[in-house]
Amino acid sequence: MVDPVRLNPGLSIRNRLLLQLGVVAFVISISLFLLARQVIVQAVTATQDGLLNAAVQSIVDKITVIDGTVSLDLPYDTFSLLGAVGEDRIFYRIAENDRFLTGYEDFSYNGVFGDLRAPVFGNIEYLGETFRFVAIENILFSNDKPQRLTIIIAQSQNFQASVQTRISNNLLLVTLAFLLIAILVAYLTANLTIRPIDRFTMDVKQRGPTDLRKVSADVPIELLPLAQSLNGFISRFRSALRQTETFIAEAAHHIRTPLSVVKSESELALRKSKNPENREHLRNIIQAVDWTNRSATQLLDHAMVLYRIERPEKAKLSLQQTAGDLVSQFQPVAALRDLDLRFSSDVSIEEKVLLDRTLLEAALRNLLDNALKYAKPESEVNVSLTRTSKRFEIAITNWVSRPKSLNPSKLLKKFKRGENTENIVGSGLGLSIVTEAAHAINAEFTIRKIKRGAICAVLSIAC
Ligand SMILES: Nc1ncnc2c1ncn2[C@@H]1O[C@H](COP(=O)(O)OP(=O)(O)OP(=O)(O)O)[C@@H](O)[C@H]1O
Ligand SMILES: [Mg+2]
Repeated sequence: MVDPVRLNPGLSIRNRLLLQLGVVAFVISISLFLLARQVIVQAVTATQDGLLNAAVQSIVDKITVIDGTVSLDLPYDTFSLLGAVGEDRIFYRIAENDRFLTGYEDFSYNGVFGDLRAPVFGNIEYLGETFRFVAIENILFSNDKPQRLTIIIAQSQNFQASVQTRISNNLLLVTLAFLLIAILVAYLTANLTIRPIDRFTMDVKQRGPTDLRKVSADVPIELLPLAQSLNGFISRFRSALRQTETFIAEAAHHIRTPLSVVKSESELALRKSKNPENREHLRNIIQAVDWTNRSATQLLDHAMVLYRIERPEKAKLSLQQTAGDLVSQFQPVAALRDLDLRFSSDVSIEEKVLLDRTLLEAALRNLLDNALKYAKPESEVNVSLTRTSKRFEIAITNWVSRPKSLNPSKLLKKFKRGENTENIVGSGLGLSIVTEAAHAINAEFTIRKIKRGAICAVLSIAC
């Protein structure tokens, strides 16, 4: 059969969330990095522009007009200051009415010039390198004639580049750290988001096969429809199961009454019959009735246990008393088979546990029944109740004739019987009733062979 629910790890909600949040974090980091870098470039450029502006101002300050002649005393200290910053190279060109005055003659500029209050800044390619420049024009009057003095100073961008690289490297580290933190937060967020789903899953997953309680109503609103449909499904399933259990119990009950009539009538006929052939037939009928009766009783018991598992009635009870009473009830059966049924306990009658009495008794009754049924004739059957720090243990031990043929752990399945049953009446349901009842009262059930051909069944109940 094809399993309709298949796991697709790529589509897990956690992975999707992680991917989405991771991508958002990555995009934000890259945008922040680019934005911050842009701001830094602008700040460094503004600083360089400020220096260039100061330089051009100091040149203008040194311009004088004496006797109609423009005279300029170049402020070399300003240039050396500009050049000192990051070992940048400086080029300048001063012209009067487009006539080259001083500076670098081949350093030409055809763009616009600003004035002293609003100089023009920009980038210019020169000697295969990009330079930042400031360009101004200054109108001087000599002999009442306007003289147009143009000044352009350009500075290479070594300093700007080195500052940018340094800051960009630091920025890259900060961005990486931010990205890592954002991914960590995304991971935590994804986990936090799917936690209710995990809790919901665990609630359903940790249940035993017979636990048909409704799932918790305490779920986030998105999971509410799922929880409601699941609860609807559980209650439909529960009522179908209950109907089946009731039907089995009623059927078993209805079978038992006519069976007992068949048995008593057959026994009467057996007593009256003289014909050996008829007597043999009647004995077979009586045996078959016994088998059917046992099966009906066990089916009834099984249905009752399942019913109680759903609606346990917990009460404080003394294990010492319950086990002791049951052992007393089985004494006549033991006597019939010449068995010595003994009960020992190191637990006081005052020590109590909270559990469903019917379930506990159903388990113990089946174990005692087995121990007496399969015990070697005239042997001992021991029931002991002990206490460890956290648990009570009820151990039932009996001796068997052919221990080698038995593998108790394989006999827990429904309707499975061992090879030592021969003419012993039974349905094979006893141990599965014990397993289910034990699970319902939170007890552990084990059955194993112990030394010298004894079988020991242990019910370990949490205190
Ligand atoms: N104490 C025991 N000693 C020896 N064999 C055992 C013991 N308990 C169980 N068995 C073996 O395990 C098998 C299954 O036991 P179980 O109680 O489930 O069914 P049953 O006793 O055969 O039938 P039922 O209990 O319904 O009358 C038995 O048939 C028997 O072979
Ligand atoms: Mg049994």
